[in-house]
Amino acid sequence: MAQLSTFARKTNTKLVNCLSRRCKMVSVAVTVQQVARPAPAKEIASCSGRQTYHDDMAKILYTEAAISQRVAELGRQIAQDYQGKAPLVLGVLKGSFMFFGDLVRAIEPCPRGLTLDFIRASSYGSGTESTGEVKLKTDLKREKVEGRHVLLVEDIVDTALTITTVNRYLLEECGAASVATATLLDKHERRKLAYRPEYVGFVCPNEFVVGYGLDFDEEYRTIPYIGVLKPECYSHLGIKAPEPDCSGESGGE
Ligand code: IMP
Repeated sequence: MAQLSTFARKTNTKLVNCLSRRCKMVSVAVTVQQVARPAPAKEIASCSGRQTYHDDMAKILYTEAAISQRVAELGRQIAQDYQGKAPLVLGVLKGSFMFFGDLVRAIEPCPRGLTLDFIRASSYGSGTESTGEVKLKTDLKREKVEGRHVLLVEDIVDTALTITTVNRYLLEECGAASVATATLLDKHERRKLAYRPEYVGFVCPNEFVVGYGLDFDEEYRTIPYIGVLKPECYSHLGIKAPEPDCSGESGGE
């Protein structure tokens, strides 16, 4: 009964009244335990004591609404620019998966002959520092790319090592007719190679960001907005929170 009244106070009194009228108390008690205390999602080792990824955010830089509005604008622009060009839209995994899904739907009216594919690029292990070496994994065949106008879709261009490597691969090894880049974020303060993406969602301040596909140590990708983590979220890896003004590299894939 104590469980029942706590639950009733905390959640839905109507539901509990209905349950106690129709069912035996014992079965209500079981239901109460299951509903009132769901198993915590994944225990987040990086921020002990916090239950959800949202609790780990120090601040939100780009809200879901702001992202959605900007993606719609980019989509319209790309649709105009690529009419009659039958573009190959190529997502750079993994970080671009969410932006890619939203962007391709926003490319309206969709140019005829537009096709999609993916390439996987990784330059970083766990954490926020790069090895500086970019590895590409793809089963893209040269005949799929040769002579095509390729639009690369990236989550973020930071040092530009990744996008430059992918670009070179497409032009030099696959014979693309042209390569342009749509990136949601441009952290141009940290460039190591000169690179100017053709389509930019937002110019990003020099901070390590997560969400909307971007990860820290493979976590936080599914958050629908982009934010900056609290410093304590880095401590389990023995990593210091990235300094906004540091000159090291950041990233993942
Ligand atoms: P770049 O080669 O330094 O331009 O970095 C490219 C990749 O690093 C991106 O595709 C991201 O996966 C990752 N990256 C760079 N900055 C961040 C960040 O602030 N948060 C998460 N991932 C990042």
